[in-house]
Amino acid sequence: MQHDLERLREEALAELSAVASPGALEAWRITYLGRQGRLPALLERMKDLTKDERPVIGRLANAVKTALQSGFDDKKISIEATAETGPLDPSLPGRAPAARPRHVLRQTMERMTDIFRRMGFSLADGPEIETEFHNFDALNTPPDHPARNEQDTFYLDLNDLPGQGRRLLRSQTSPVQIRVMQSQTPPIRIIAPGRCYRRDEIDATHGAFFHQMEGLYVAENVSLADLKGTLEFFLREFLGEGIRVRFRPHFFPFTEPSFEVDLSRPGQTVRGKEWLEICGCGMVDPAVFEHVGIDPERYTGFAFGLGIERMAMMLHGIPDLRYFTDNDTRFLGQFTPVPHA
Ligand code: DAH
Repeated sequence: MQHDLERLREEALAELSAVASPGALEAWRITYLGRQGRLPALLERMKDLTKDERPVIGRLANAVKTALQSGFDDKKISIEATAETGPLDPSLPGRAPAARPRHVLRQTMERMTDIFRRMGFSLADGPEIETEFHNFDALNTPPDHPARNEQDTFYLDLNDLPGQGRRLLRSQTSPVQIRVMQSQTPPIRIIAPGRCYRRDEIDATHGAFFHQMEGLYVAENVSLADLKGTLEFFLREFLGEGIRVRFRPHFFPFTEPSFEVDLSRPGQTVRGKEWLEICGCGMVDPAVFEHVGIDPERYTGFAFGLGIERMAMMLHGIPDLRYFTDNDTRFLGQFTPVPHA
């Protein structure tokens, strides 16, 4: 009987593998598993077995039954799937992934970079995980400055770096200035686009992370006129001649004098406001030069930090920066690179 069971399993599974239609599958089921089928007929003979044989054969009989049943179930699923999709046709062409434009912030960053490159700035880069030294101390920001507060900056639970303080997510791209001035000698002319992080309440113009483009120019005889000329030229290249630019005196610890730059574009408001603040800037404070070993008697420089989200909002009239990170393709699909004027 053991032999018969094994043969039955072999034949049944061989036949099943050739089954390709629902009708043939049902016929197979009746032949092997149906009430008058071959497996039940075999199992009828169990009662003639001796007491010793019964458990051994019983186990085998169960295994055969399970194999046939699960073979049947699998076949049923694959036949139904084929009925839905048709047989696989490997000669059909594949589906090409839709070509999507780059993210609007990336496009904006590239457009900004292009303009500064033409003015002789090269690209620099720094880590997003910074040290207190680079993000604050070397930028002449005193220990009690509000930006250093736990409420404003994300401090990381990592070991302090010797002499460089705690580690944090950079709150601005300005620490790249420090890294560049530590590793290069003037003349220095760089831009550094990248991501920054702050513990801000999230609203239409603030996020927990955002992008800035830092700029730094250090050489002999760099003046405030160079700063104004460079930024105004950049902004007109970026948005066209029609814009208005306003330098408003401000305070930053690492520049003296310092300004905020506001932009207005006739006929366009962002959230009902005509002027949008897009940049902080100023003349590099001599105290910063001293931190990085550059002679403040010989060199002067200017620095700026442009908000990339805000430049994109101005360029396209986008009212809310949360659109940038919602990842809704209906929003993102609207933007293709804007040709230069
Ligand atoms: N880091 C400043 C901020 O995030 C912006 C800034 C101001 C950058 C003045 C500069 C600068 O390079 O000179 O608010």
